[in-house]
Amino acid sequence: MSISNKQILLAARPVGFPKDSDFKLVESPVPVPGEGQMLVRSIYISVDPYMRGRMNDVKSYAAPVPIGGLMGGGAVARVIQSNISAFNEGDIVEGMFGWQEYAVSDGRGVRKIDPSVAPISTALGVLGMPGLTAYFGLLEICDPQPEETVVVSGAAGAVGSLVGQIAKIKGCRVVGIAGGDDKIAYLTEEIGFDAAFNYKTVSDYYQQLKELCPKGIDVYFDNVGGEISDAVFSLINTRARVSICGQISQYNLEKPEMGPRLILMSLLVKQARAEGFLVFQYAEKYPQGIKQMAQWLREGKLKYKEDIEEGIENTPRAFMDMLKGRNTGKQLVKVSESD
Ligand SMILES: NC(=O)c1ccc[n+]([C@@H]2O[C@H](COP(=O)([O-])OP(=O)(O)OC[C@H]3O[C@@H](n4cnc5c(N)ncnc54)[C@H](OP(=O)(O)O)[C@@H]3O)[C@@H](O)[C@H]2O)c1
Repeated sequence: MSISNKQILLAARPVGFPKDSDFKLVESPVPVPGEGQMLVRSIYISVDPYMRGRMNDVKSYAAPVPIGGLMGGGAVARVIQSNISAFNEGDIVEGMFGWQEYAVSDGRGVRKIDPSVAPISTALGVLGMPGLTAYFGLLEICDPQPEETVVVSGAAGAVGSLVGQIAKIKGCRVVGIAGGDDKIAYLTEEIGFDAAFNYKTVSDYYQQLKELCPKGIDVYFDNVGGEISDAVFSLINTRARVSICGQISQYNLEKPEMGPRLILMSLLVKQARAEGFLVFQYAEKYPQGIKQMAQWLREGKLKYKEDIEEGIENTPRAFMDMLKGRNTGKQLVKVSESD
């Protein structure tokens, strides 16, 4: 066991896009678990877009990380020592252990992972929070029907790539929007999207969408907001359903963009519905969602991709690269070996 615990703290609140100096790597002694606690050693750490919001000093659905505080986040870990009867040494677990090598936990909000179901990293992706976000955000809010046209923005990421595949399972025509030719090839050639375009090389999103969605758009799963969403809303059909999952195009802006511009008029005229959600509102149904996603995975109906950075010290870079779109699929950081 290493004698120290490397941790990544928030050093400064980012102005615009985060930079290296907004983070600080520190080393402290490995904590000792007390009564009713366990010590875990992280194997994979998840970096997620929501963490950008926690770096701001703005009240949201969760408290901001204080300056000098540990960057929070999910991780898959091994139990090293346990004083909790429900957890044993050697168990693989998933919980909010933060950007650090070791964590002490009282077991609340921690779930055991069965490594025989799928690789343990999937507990942070297809069989974890992003998978549940795709599952509930699409099915509960949009109820996609066979033959309907579903558009997904942020389509090649952890959530978006799963949304499109779930929509295909439901018999829909699926069109993705993502930021790279390699991502477009991944969507259309590897995971079954019917069409997709690269918003970084296409200038007229409206025209492109019109060509790719000749019957209009019945369902929109919005991961990005901004100009991409403006174009999608202009093409929605009567009674369209829009799931507002994320607005990543806005997360690093110093000044918020104008909005909602065309969107409200489109909702009015098309008698359509747009609904925001936070995945944890479906917490009671998580076991059902995980069971279904695991079954689709076993049946080969769902594919997933992971981008894995190595080393705790590279966690901030992995996070910033993900915000820049360098990832395809789920961005993770591997910080120790799984055995
Ligand atoms: N509501 C919830 O409970 C919930 C839960 C999880 C995630 N989310 C949201 O879901 C979205 C996707 O999350 P994820 O974990 O799956 O991340 P992800 O898609 O794997 O990674 C983020 C992606 O966002 C794209 N992006 C970055 N800047 C952009 C911009 N200005 N315009 C358009 N796209 C941009 C990049 O892909 P490109 O190369 O395509 O630009 C990047 O790969 C995020 O908005 C996140 O906040 C919401």
